[in-house]
Formats: sequence, structure tokens, C-alpha cells
Amino acid sequence: MTRFSARMAQAAKRKKSRIILAVDPRPGTKNLKLFARKAVREVAGHVCGIKVNFHLLLPLSGREMSGITRLAHSYGLVCIADIKLNDIDSTNKAAVAHLAAMGFDAVIANPFMGAATLASLVKEARRMDLGVIALVYMSHPDAKEGYGLEARQGAVYEMFLERAVKAGADGAVVGATQADILRKVRGRLPVYSPGVGAQGGDVEQAVRNGSDYLIVGRSIIEADDAAGVAREMNSKARSARP
Ligand code: XMP
Repeated sequence: MTRFSARMAQAAKRKKSRIILAVDPRPGTKNLKLFARKAVREVAGHVCGIKVNFHLLLPLSGREMSGITRLAHSYGLVCIADIKLNDIDSTNKAAVAHLAAMGFDAVIANPFMGAATLASLVKEARRMDLGVIALVYMSHPDAKEGYGLEARQGAVYEMFLERAVKAGADGAVVGATQADILRKVRGRLPVYSPGVGAQGGDVEQAVRNGSDYLIVGRSIIEADDAAGVAREMNSKARSARP
């Protein structure tokens, strides 16, 4: 069984892309299944994975979601569930079992749950061939009110990073907008960064600062030429780090 972090790196190499599409529909989108399938098909040549959030996970059935992960896999894309999982052990286990059954390759989790619970989640997820990507510092402006807080042992995000490394997580989420934090986290775990485009982050800067993968939603999804924007972002990312 190849670890998720290795599968992700292989997908990025094969697809020659560090971009992960956040398949988030605009509010009011009528046919979500159709929207997701169209978005995946349109940009599949310029991205290495998709990330699915509650926009689709709440309204769609497990069967419909499986159809979307199957389609993404047919293009060689990796599928990540962004539920920022943060619960007790038994509930975390139920969540990863459902996500694995829907064909996901990895889940985003919040180390706030505690070091032992995170380690148990990573172990259980790996048993199901699912990777765990840990939140370390989110992308939005007031993320500092949580992730930036100073605790007795240092900043909260530093504790989260240490927990993630110790638990054997497959990656860390650090916002593309958090230049200083990216520089500190780079090299410890593969770094996944939302926040370019719509949230103000810059593709080349983020990659230079340490982002290994860029998660992009609205800038691509809401563009008239989604494939063109994805291609352009990918070529900028590749010029910053081939
Ligand atoms: P946009 O449209 O801003 O979409 O490109 C970004 C996507 O990523 C989610 N998001 C995050 N997910 N940690 C995460 O795990 C973060 O710090 C973070 N910031 C944004 C967002 O919900 C959307 O799906």
C-alpha cells in the first residue's frame, strides 16, 4: 500500500501540476452533480487533485459522491475531503470509514482534537488507505485568533505542527496568505495551501515560501475560462518551482 503523501507526489509529477481544484459551486447552483462532473472534466488536464467541501458533501448522496471521485480518479486526480475533522475517536473513525467508502484518498483534520486522538485517527485512516492532512494555520484573516494564539508551549500552530508530525500525518494545511508561517513549516511535511486568488494569496509567492500544493476554488470555478485560469496558475506555480 503506497502512502497518501507518495500517491499525491506521484499524481503531481504525472499531471505536471501542483494545483488542487476546490470543487465549490456558487451559491444557488442547481444541479450539483452535473456542476462537479463538468468542473472536473474541464480542468483535469491542469490539476493534480480535487478537494471537496461541505458544498457537495452535505447535499449529495454517498453514491453521487462516489461517482465524482471515480470520475476524478479516471483522470489520475487525487480526491481530498475537506471536513476539518475534529471529534472524539469513535466519531472520527465513523467519518473516515464513510469517506473511504466514497472513494476519497485523504481527509483534512484539525489537531485541536488532541495529540493522541490525532495519532489514532492517522492510524485508522491509514488502515483504510486514507491520508490525513492536518490544519496548521488557516488562510483567512482572523485565523490568527486561533492558530496564532500563544500557549504555554509556544504558538498554537507550532503545537499543531508538532502533533501532526508526531502522529505521522501526510501533510499540513497552511494558508497561502501566511508567508512567515509557510517559511517555518516548509520541509517538515508536504504543505497544502488554500488562499490564492479569491483570498488574496499569490501563486508564485506561496510556492516560493513553501507551498507544495495550491488549493484553488473560486478563481478557477467562477472564471469564464476555467481551464485557461487553471493552466495559467499551474504555469506560474511551475515557474516558481519546476
Ligand atoms: P477559494 O475559493 O478561496 O477556496 O480558492 C478555498 C477552499 O479551501 C477551503 N479553505 C480551507 N481549507 N484550510 C482548509 O482546510 C484552510 O485554511 C482553508 N482556507 C480555505 C475553503 O473552504 C474552500 O473550499
